[in-house]
This record gives sequence, structure tokens and C-alpha cells, in this order.
Amino acid sequence: MRIVFVGSGYVGLVSGAMLAHLGHFVWCIDKDQQKIDNLHKSIIPIYEPDLERYVSDSTKSGNLRFSTKFEEESCDAVFIAVGTPSLDSGAADLSQIYNAILEVADYYSSDTLIVIKSTVPPGTCKELQQLLNEKGYGHSVVSNPEFLREGNAIYDFLNPDRIVFGYNNDRDLEILHKIYKPLFDKGYPSVSTNTNTSEMIKYSSNAFLATKIAFINEMANLCESIGADVETLSEGIGLDHRIGKAFLKAGPGFGGSCFPKDIMALSHIAKINKCEFNVLNAVIYANQIRRQHMVDKIKRVLGDLSNKQICVLGITFKAGTDDIRSSPAVDIVKILSELGVKIFVYDPEGSANASRVLPTINFVDSPYEAAIDADCVVVLTEWEEFTKINFQKLYNVLKNPIIFDFRNIISSNHVKEIGFEYYGIGR
Ligand code: UGA
Repeated sequence: MRIVFVGSGYVGLVSGAMLAHLGHFVWCIDKDQQKIDNLHKSIIPIYEPDLERYVSDSTKSGNLRFSTKFEEESCDAVFIAVGTPSLDSGAADLSQIYNAILEVADYYSSDTLIVIKSTVPPGTCKELQQLLNEKGYGHSVVSNPEFLREGNAIYDFLNPDRIVFGYNNDRDLEILHKIYKPLFDKGYPSVSTNTNTSEMIKYSSNAFLATKIAFINEMANLCESIGADVETLSEGIGLDHRIGKAFLKAGPGFGGSCFPKDIMALSHIAKINKCEFNVLNAVIYANQIRRQHMVDKIKRVLGDLSNKQICVLGITFKAGTDDIRSSPAVDIVKILSELGVKIFVYDPEGSANASRVLPTINFVDSPYEAAIDADCVVVLTEWEEFTKINFQKLYNVLKNPIIFDFRNIISSNHVKEIGFEYYGIGR
């Protein structure tokens, strides 16, 4: 199949590269000339394990190409994968989608299927369809949300739990099935429905996962108060297959470019439809106050934080990415810094991005460097390499051997044996 992606950001680039890998001919389009020039040289604008190799292989085979404009006269499907950032109201800003779809409809004939890959509020595909109809275009607009996790995107694409389609007619579904045939041949399931439901499935998935995290984080608070262990609690409830183990890891709160934005948008949709979403509003609130809650935990041990020095390990919103968008670590560092704390941060991938939003914070090249003369260590991202730190070496350079492990990844017994005071989450 001949496929075009409009928007070569995270979603467009990963999905485009993987569809090229599955044997389709894919053009990834982006208005950013610098990005396209780099992609021609297989320089990837984001950190995503293995993506560079897939991009490079498919570029060499001729299946994957990049441009700032549409290059060929026809194609089977155009995927729109542009950004849908939050407006102040919490609603999603769809202006990039509207601009893109008119350009697509103007360039390609009505045989070309228009697939909305970006996360959009329910009703968007219908509105876009209406817009095209009114302007005399005959294209069909369908929904195919993505469920990739940053840092696991390649695996998730090739091993989907489900592929969701929101379609209008049999021809739409036939094209979508042809595109994903290599995955259906391996037995991965699909859910095909109308476009409103498809769009809603995407929002509900993220909202439900965010709810699980907010739930376990507040259970962690309770565990601390009554002397229970949240890690064992997660295992104990997660083994019940009705609950499931995933997304029950307590931490400093969820972040990233999706959960915070999508739950705000869903709450906004509920509000304008006069269906107040009380559970979701509580999740939003619980996650917002979680940052301050983490700082309060440090304060309870160290006392007044002004003039203290803290070694922060991890600044990205989770491990396996260089993305710092809505990262709890960034928010916590900001609060600490406002309290007069001197902060040294080590992160394996996120320092370059974070130093742009935290210009007064010191970013260093190793955990040991970050720890010199610090009053404590605070672990904010669950990078595996933090579990392999030489804690004796860390102990030797710290002023006070205190660890706040806000991801529960460090072996508490091991560090306590060395002489550390250890504080985890919900333990
Ligand atoms: C999320 C969804 O998991 C994807 O399915 C979806 O496609 C994507 O959003 C999107 O809408 O594009 P992602 O933002 O990459 O993916 O990150 P997650 O792995 O879901 O983690 C989100 C946040 O929750 C992170 O801050 C992470 O640290 C936190 N988290 C996750 C926890 O605190 N505990 C957990 O048990 C799991």
C-alpha cells in the first residue's frame, strides 16, 4: 500500500517507520525542514530505542521516505499525526488537524482514505467529515488511534493488544485491514466501530490507566500511615486478573505528553456534555498535589530546605525516553528550587531537554558527581541504571547518606547495610 503520514513527530515517525517495516511504501511529511534534513540522514529527533535502526533500514530499502511536501500524485491512505496540545480550558487544540486535512483533501483525490491518528475528542472525525463534505470533497475520514508507549513504541506497534478502527463504510475497513494485514496475520485482534466510539476508546484507555496510577499512589499514602507495603499490595491485588498487574506502580505521579493532556480533555468533554466526570476530576487533582506531597516527604526528614543541596536522579517523565513533558521530576525540582535548594541532576537521556526548562539547575554527567556534598539523594525516574549504582561510592561523596526512592527501585536492604537512611514510597 502507498501511505503518507502528515506530521513526523513521535506518533507519525514511529507508525510511519513501522508500516514501512511491514512492507508498505511510506512518505513521512513534516513542515520542519531541519527535521526532514536530519531524517534523511537517519538522525532521529527523539530518543526511542531501536527506532534509528528501523528508520535507517526502511530508508535504505526505499520503503520509507521523508519530505516537507506531498511528493506523489496518489496514495491509498493519508494518516494525520499532528499535535493536539491542550488549550487553557483543557480542551484539545485541533487547529493543526484542521489545517492538515484541508491540505490533504485539496491535494489527493477522493479515493484516498484520510485516517486520523492523532488523539482527538469524540466527534472530531464526524466534524472533519462534515467540513470536507460541505467543501465538496468526497474523502472518507476514519479514526485509528494509537496506543504506543514512549520507550516501548516499536514493541507496542509490532505486538498490539488491539488495533482500533472507527470507520464509515466497508471500503474504509477494507483499506484499513490491508494496511494492518501483517499484524492480523499474526493473530492480533481489532475492534471496528463508529468513529465516535473509536475516538472515545483512546481517551478512556488513557483515563483508566491514569486512574489506576492515582489509585495506587493514594493507597501508597495510606500504606505509609498504617505500616503496610504498597509493592506487595500491588502484587496482591494485581494477581486478581480482574484488576491486572499493569499500571499499579506507585511513584511521584504520572506525567508525559499524553495522560495529563488527555484526561484534561476528557474532563472538558464531560463538562460540556453536562456529564460531570467526578472520578476523573479526582484523578486530576490527586496527580497535581502529588508533586508537593513528594517535597513534603523530603521536608519531614531534612527540615528547612533552604540552603540544602540535593542530588536528583532522573528528570524524564519515565525511563526509556528523553521526554520531559509534564514530568513530575521537573515539577518537583522546580518546587525544591523555589525553596532555595541547590540541585544537581543526573539523567541518562533527559538533561539536554530539561536544561532548557530548568536553566538555573546544574546537570551533571554521573550520579556520583551529582551526589558530591549533597544532603540527600532523590530518585525521580525509574532508569534501570540507577539500580546498578555503586552505592558505597555514592555514600562516600554524600554529606548525608539519605535516599528518597520515589520510584521504589533501589534495594533498601542493600543501601541500609551500607549505612543509608532509606525512604521509599508506600512502605
Ligand atoms: C501512554 C499510554 O500508556 C499509551 O498506551 C498511549 O499510546 C500514550 O500514552 C499516548 O496516548 O500516546 P506514555 O505516555 O508513553 O504512554 O507513558 P506510560 O508508560 O503510559 O506512562 C505514563 C506515566 O505514568 C509516566 O509518568 C509513568 O511514570 C507513570 N506510571 C506508569 C506510573 O507512575 N506507574 C505505573 O504503574 C505506570
